[in-house]
Amino acid sequence: MAKQKLKVGLIGSGAIAREQHLPYWRELEEEGRIDLLGVCDLISERCETEAGKSKGAKPYLDYRKMLKEYHFDIIDVCTQNRGHAPITIDALNAGAHVIVEKPMAMNVKECKAMIAAQKKNKRKLMVAQHMRFEAGAEKLKEVAESGALGQIYASEAKWLRRRGIPGWGKFHIAKESLGGPMIDIGVHMMDLCVWLMGCPKPVAASGKVYRMFGDREDLFNADWGRPYPPKEFDVEDHATGFVRFEKGITMHVTVTWAANVAEETGGVTVLGDKAGIMTNPLGVYGADHSTLTSSKWDWLSPEDGHRREVRHFCECVEKNLDVRVQPWQSLNIQKIIDAIYLSSKLNKEVPIK
Ligand SMILES: NC(=O)c1ccc[n+]([C@@H]2O[C@H](COP(=O)([O-])OP(=O)(O)OC[C@H]3O[C@@H](n4cnc5c(N)ncnc54)[C@H](O)[C@@H]3O)[C@@H](O)[C@H]2O)c1
Repeated sequence: MAKQKLKVGLIGSGAIAREQHLPYWRELEEEGRIDLLGVCDLISERCETEAGKSKGAKPYLDYRKMLKEYHFDIIDVCTQNRGHAPITIDALNAGAHVIVEKPMAMNVKECKAMIAAQKKNKRKLMVAQHMRFEAGAEKLKEVAESGALGQIYASEAKWLRRRGIPGWGKFHIAKESLGGPMIDIGVHMMDLCVWLMGCPKPVAASGKVYRMFGDREDLFNADWGRPYPPKEFDVEDHATGFVRFEKGITMHVTVTWAANVAEETGGVTVLGDKAGIMTNPLGVYGADHSTLTSSKWDWLSPEDGHRREVRHFCECVEKNLDVRVQPWQSLNIQKIIDAIYLSSKLNKEVPIK
């Protein structure tokens, strides 16, 4: 008997969907594993163009209508952050497994509601943290899980851009996105860092967020220009935080869209008493009696993490496997984010429950 193909729909066919999700769903369609049946966007040109690239896909302007037309196995949510929770919950309630772009949602309450819907409907839910799927990250995770780091005690999650505020979408508007670099690139760095440490439970955070460039008339945003009016910019463009986890583990976070630094830099560092791991430069760093050691990989697959992530989610649904990015892990990242924003407002460390 021919294997049943999974019915897939995508909601929000903007930049990330067009460039990083839909090409990989189409690849799976060519392999005969899925049927892409619907592409939805509020902007008709976007959903029509993207649906038009697949034989059987129809464009939709209303995702609720799309959810009613098929019994989807998988819904991929790629809207702005504001849509993540309500659309995910509707899709789970319609019986679909859901992969949703990062960040999980706009706050902890929404994340909990998503997890409740996932449990109630016994579906899979995964936040698209594609960096966990890059070959280098997978190698570092293997090393960390082998116990070679010894006792993990401190870490750093960092991404600094000199002038690189996203120049498309609604990244700069708080009611659409929640925040600035903390939400855009900070989520990636923190998720990777916490995952490499074995997902310890966060217990407290302090932080400060700043808006120093984004709303200035004279902003020179070298990487992407500035297509938005400065008055619209109401998120932070620089954020820093210090997070405490159980067992005394800590994480220092610094993320920025615009800062007066020499060049774009960043990465994740996890320190253990036997060895440390870094994504930049990628490797394992330790000591052996009186010598310092480092080990690197000569060649790692350059395959896009987004491709591996989409294929992983498809396989998890096909074979009923656990997803790599568990919803409770993404909830913990959201707890850290909420705590850093609150701490910035209150000017003191806040507990995380
Ligand atoms: N993983 C990554 O590296 C990465 C990179 C960029 C963006 N993202 C995430 O992807 C998401 C989208 O970002 P983007 O850059 O593609 O933004 P975008 O603005 O280009 O695309 C979002 C699209 O969603 C559509 N949309 C919004 N609400 C909708 C609704 N109710 N129904 C149907 N369509 C709706 C918009 O019309 C728009 O076309 C964000 O959550 C962002 O954080 C992730």
